[in-house]
Amino acid sequence: MDSVNRLIELLYDRLGQSVSLDEAASAAGGRGKLEKLWPLVAQRGHRVVFSPAGACLVLPTAMDARLIERDLDTRRVGRNVICFPQVDSTNDVAFDSASQAGADGLAVLAEWQRLGRGRLGRRWISPPGANVLLSVLLNDPSEALGHEALTIAAGLAVAEGIEDATNIPCRLKWPNDVLLEGRKVAGVLVELRRSRKGRCVVIGIGVNANAAPDSPDIQSPATCLAEHMGEPLDRTEIVRGLLRRLDGWVARVEAADLDALHTAWRDRCAMINQRIVVDSGGRQVTGRVLDISPLEGLILCDDHGHRQHLPAACSTVVGIRRGEIEGKPRPPQRREKR
Ligand code: BTN
Repeated sequence: MDSVNRLIELLYDRLGQSVSLDEAASAAGGRGKLEKLWPLVAQRGHRVVFSPAGACLVLPTAMDARLIERDLDTRRVGRNVICFPQVDSTNDVAFDSASQAGADGLAVLAEWQRLGRGRLGRRWISPPGANVLLSVLLNDPSEALGHEALTIAAGLAVAEGIEDATNIPCRLKWPNDVLLEGRKVAGVLVELRRSRKGRCVVIGIGVNANAAPDSPDIQSPATCLAEHMGEPLDRTEIVRGLLRRLDGWVARVEAADLDALHTAWRDRCAMINQRIVVDSGGRQVTGRVLDISPLEGLILCDDHGHRQHLPAACSTVVGIRRGEIEGKPRPPQRREKR
């Protein structure tokens, strides 16, 4: 490992504490070399503060591919990681890399997106250097990765990854909004494209780690993890947690082992038995949530008693009728018909 990476690792491993200049110099290979390394640390986007006690990285630290990849131990997701200061959309960069050797599982991160995309044609806005903007590319020539299953698996992986890294409990709103105390803290956009080499899937993930943008979605007002913690958060651990969890769920989707996905998603779902309003391809459906299915999407009993299956790709929840859960007064309904 070269000396600049050794120095960055030393500073990162002591996040929140100062590293004495003697220790930093021995990682750098001498005082003279150390002085030349500080500008290189800054070029990698890391900010360092100096005090009589030594040097200390400022939170949030820059997204750094080496720190993310270090001992990650995943099978497929995140075997290669690249970080950019800015891009149009990390999803586009991931798609553009699909034909390169070893691209499967590539994780693309950016500090800022000029044209970040959200679900259903919305924009995803996030201030520079604050949050997690991540896309994972999966080449899928045999079409083993079902879109519906992958969509809910990705939301689950994000909720679990955040919890692993921060201990902050997260819930899910269908299909894959991640909620913290009822407010949106992360979103997922799964996109598919076909090329001459076959189908590829990109899972785009935005996590409001250190800043909550104004949310255009009034049903899910936004929050950020730092607001909950009361201090800035290290994004590296969050990304590593997401990649590990995503790796596990992608393997299960690949193996069509969907029971565990169904159970884990249901356990975190903030909506089972709630009466909700869904926009599905421009049509509004109101009803009670019966279940989610990794194959068929959201399963509702509508207000006319009909069972409806609403796919994730074209549907979004536009209203939750809080308190109208099973056993509490609801408008008169006919019996559910299958
Ligand atoms: C949503 O609408 O909730 C999904 C938001 C997904 C945003 C992420 S940020 C990284 C990736 N690149 C994009 O352009 N979008 C996704």
